[in-house]
Amino acid sequence: MVVARFGSESGKAMTAGNNIEDGLAYPTTDASAGPAYTMTARALHWTTAFLVLSVIPLGIVAANDWGGSMQDTIYDLHRSVGAAIVPLIVLRLIYRWTHPPLPLPDDIPELQRFAANVTHWGLYILLIVQPLTGWIATSAYRASVTVFGWFELPPISPENRAFSEQLFFVHRLMGLAITCLVAGHIGAALYHHLVRKDRILMRMVTG
Ligand code: HEM
Ligand code: HEM
Repeated sequence: MVVARFGSESGKAMTAGNNIEDGLAYPTTDASAGPAYTMTARALHWTTAFLVLSVIPLGIVAANDWGGSMQDTIYDLHRSVGAAIVPLIVLRLIYRWTHPPLPLPDDIPELQRFAANVTHWGLYILLIVQPLTGWIATSAYRASVTVFGWFELPPISPENRAFSEQLFFVHRLMGLAITCLVAGHIGAALYHHLVRKDRILMRMVTG
């Protein structure tokens, strides 16, 4: 059976044809290069990465009142970028469903495979739940959520300042969890590239 993979629409010339050893077909750029992520998969990944790496510092600056005269703008930007992450993750999950991720090299130990899965699924889930808690807590506080100045999201919770504060505490803890997962994820990518010297990072960078 031929399954469309993240690597199945690579724009590069294929010299080695399809790899059918594991029963799944994916094109390779040459005999040793292994499978590559498609342009779409890479664009989705790096756009998410850019937004997540922006939303975390914006949230920290906003929560600690470090923004000075830019404080309101930083709040708005944090909420806007946070809101944009939800449709992006949903799109990414749909794409992933139709284009399953590439297999890891055979010699990766079971524990590392498990850690990678937990990290990826942890990120997918938290990146959907986190903006929702932000939206609910902001609604309960009765502050508005304007997305990049284009439109306003409606409040989705009755006004309740005490509940808002409790939920922002949860938002803070989940922000910390996301930061730790992202740090571990980046560390793992660098470990593959610099220590194991395999193609895991480059197949997400150059395809
Ligand atoms: C900062 C926010 C980031 C998030 C939320 C994120 C999220 C993800 C997720 C969820 C996957 C799994 C794809 C899947 O199997 O469905 C993934 C794959 C990957 N990410 Fe990230 N990522 C981020 C940043 C980065 C950075 C900065 C790097 C490089 C230093 C990186 C390198 C990779 C690589 C190499 C893969 C492919 C792993 C494989 O082929 O198995 N990511 N990323
Ligand atoms: C993936 C998306 C998001 C991430 C990763 C994230 C992360 C964070 C982080 C790390 C903080 C700082 C917490 C602290 O140090 O106390 C924060 C604060 C905050 N976030 Fe988010 N956030 C996201 C989405 C949203 C959304 C969509 C909204 C609103 C609609 C929102 C509203 C807020 C507000 C108002 C604060 C400041 C809370 C305070 O003043 O104590 N966030 N966020």
